[in-house]
Amino acid sequence: MRYTGNKVIEEDIQGDATLIESEEVGNGKKLYIESYGCQMNFADSEIVASILIDEGYTTTANYKEADVILVNTCSIRDNAEKRVLNRLRNYQIVKKLRPGAIIGMLGCMAERLKSQLIEKDKLVDLVVGPDAYRSLPSLLKSAEGGQKSVNVLLSREETYADISPVRLDNNGISAFISIMRGCDNMCSFCVVPFTRGRERSRDPESIIHEARELLLKGYKEITLLGQNVDSYKWNITAKGEIIEPGEEVVNFSGLLEKVALLSPELRIRFSTSHPKDMTDEVLTTMAKYENICKYIHLPVQSGNNEILQKMNRGYTREWYFDRIDKIRQLMPDCAISTDIIIGFCDETDEHYNETFKLMDEVKFDFAYMFKYSERPKTLAERNFSDNVPEDVKSKRLQQIIDLQSSHSLRSYKQMVGKVCTVLIEGESKRSSDQLYGRNTQNMVAIFDKDELKKGQYVDVLIESCTSATLFGKVIKTDKN
Ligand code: 5AD
Ligand code: SF4
Repeated sequence: MRYTGNKVIEEDIQGDATLIESEEVGNGKKLYIESYGCQMNFADSEIVASILIDEGYTTTANYKEADVILVNTCSIRDNAEKRVLNRLRNYQIVKKLRPGAIIGMLGCMAERLKSQLIEKDKLVDLVVGPDAYRSLPSLLKSAEGGQKSVNVLLSREETYADISPVRLDNNGISAFISIMRGCDNMCSFCVVPFTRGRERSRDPESIIHEARELLLKGYKEITLLGQNVDSYKWNITAKGEIIEPGEEVVNFSGLLEKVALLSPELRIRFSTSHPKDMTDEVLTTMAKYENICKYIHLPVQSGNNEILQKMNRGYTREWYFDRIDKIRQLMPDCAISTDIIIGFCDETDEHYNETFKLMDEVKFDFAYMFKYSERPKTLAERNFSDNVPEDVKSKRLQQIIDLQSSHSLRSYKQMVGKVCTVLIEGESKRSSDQLYGRNTQNMVAIFDKDELKKGQYVDVLIESCTSATLFGKVIKTDKN
């Protein structure tokens, strides 16, 4: 999944099978969900599972025994889509093994490709867009009756606020909460406004309710999710009327504070921030509460003003530096990560060098770096030409990956000799005698298991590191 480690990678799209075990027999049908792309998609799969478990489905991690296979897809870059299409071709084997099985496509590709996948490619029986998951039970019934079903309608209101997500493939310690859906920003490279529709915020009451329930179940960390959390805004009364000027409107800072106040034992993270909308108020709230993690993902995309303008990002290089300065002034220990696109339309060596220089000045703790991939319908596809040659894109990408690796190593090395509070998330993949967890800066730390359990907070003295992992010994375990 994204944003969970320090992997400097060009392509972060991966699929994860998600599973819950259930003793109930229900309708006797088994559901397999696979999710690709961003954290929002993983959170959406948990809503889908909730809707279908209410209908009597149980989930399985083995697609070969599934009656329904749902693939929650991502359209952000062309290679993400290609990977999903290959996966759907593989699933045709299930149709041979179990002729009655239903294969469905959910999410961003569903909205983008609509019925093409049913009519032309004949890869799926069902296509359901991100705002239409409530119609899944009825669409599945039609599909079982042999009728191919599509619902990709986007909504201005749907937030699934009343649906309690089923936590899938989960460590029981950290969970996502969607606080808003869609995006109104229209960055010129981005397909999200077309696949996920208009921005809408979710009722803060329902967010707090969900966070409280997680807390009662023993969760210790929640990540508030939105395409642009800084534009979260709730200005609707309980009666559904727009709040008059002067009455309380809940903005992102207000929401963060409400969640932080639930319990000092509950850690709060959020993603994604937008440089043009990230306010001093949000940063002040972060600084005020220890349980709001000191980590900000602040995508810059480019370090050149002409390119930023072409990308329609709504800020300049100077504005971005100002936001970084403010973060560091208020929270000197705050980790900062970013997203970079290289090879955007008309990007010259000079433009690219400014991105390189910006990275070198800021020294991000982590970065996700991508080659520009032209997406249908976007402003860039309609107005500009994808004219940076592939070999130039590859060369630039490799250079910034190398640069970022040195910065990541530098920031991990700065932790050596220090003590970090780490929330234990589970057993280390490398050894069952060791545990792993993350510090407030989102860095993974590994240490001996001893008598410790997941969900505990421990103070770890960091003794060594790589550019992606801290190693240390536990010196204090009293914050349980
Ligand atoms: N090409 C390459 N990268 C893209 N991203 C979004 N759209 C594209 C595209 N067309 C990247 C941006 C964004 C991240 C989620 O994906 O950096 O912040
Ligand atoms: Fe896409 Fe820009 Fe919205 Fe992010 S803020 S989802 S990059 S349009």
